[in-house]
Amino acid sequence: MQSEALRGLRELCPTVSVGVLTADLMNLEREISIIENEGVKLLHIDVMDGCFCPMMTVGPPFIKGIRTSLLKDVHLMIDEPISKIPDFVAAGADIVTVHIESTRHIHRAIQLLAGLKNVNDPSRGVLRGVALNPGTPLETLSPLLSEIDMVVLLAINPGWSGQKLTPAFCERILRVKRMLHEAERPDVLLCVDGGVTRENISMISGVGADIIVTGSAVFDGKAVAQNARFMLEAVRT
Ligand code: DX5
Ligand code: ZN
Repeated sequence: MQSEALRGLRELCPTVSVGVLTADLMNLEREISIIENEGVKLLHIDVMDGCFCPMMTVGPPFIKGIRTSLLKDVHLMIDEPISKIPDFVAAGADIVTVHIESTRHIHRAIQLLAGLKNVNDPSRGVLRGVALNPGTPLETLSPLLSEIDMVVLLAINPGWSGQKLTPAFCERILRVKRMLHEAERPDVLLCVDGGVTRENISMISGVGADIIVTGSAVFDGKAVAQNARFMLEAVRT
């Protein structure tokens, strides 16, 4: 069933979710206000534990510390996330995405998310995302489609930004689109994460992604405003 929160996010699509960890962290407030002024609505926060994927990044205190009106799109790349999900929600996550490969109990994680309140606005609820690594069969999504708000397809293996899109990636987007249609959940959002550049963003958006995560292509240390504008316009046209 489509929630109010999902309807609200859908209205913003197609759009980009900007990866905050590629920003200049010493000037984070300024960096976020630049992308906000350009019309970015989603801030993508990559949480890595050094176990599920090689890098370690940030946790709930960092997420709580970001003062912004952007929606906090939290991508959990951590082993056994269930016990930690409430802390991320309490820290202000608007969207929580859990990897299907990270827990034996993905359905329990989704059920847990469905019962938690969004601390930014309790009337909204927390949006439930499920992410798949490039090597994970898409069929694993099937039993979950009636209970999620977003599918996140990783176009790279999780770990760090700036990697190249895996070949045949667009075919996976098309297949998920078909699955959503057949499951009568065309309202579920399709998000693509990793390896997005100025050169390939229009192609990815053209194949039907609703939300495109972009990190290093925006925060390249030089022209953040222009980059954010370019990426947003690319998905809107
Ligand atoms: C992959 C992360 C991505 C990615 C984004 O480990 O989930 O969010 O690093 O960064 P770019 O857009 O630079 O590939
Ligand atoms: Zn991510």
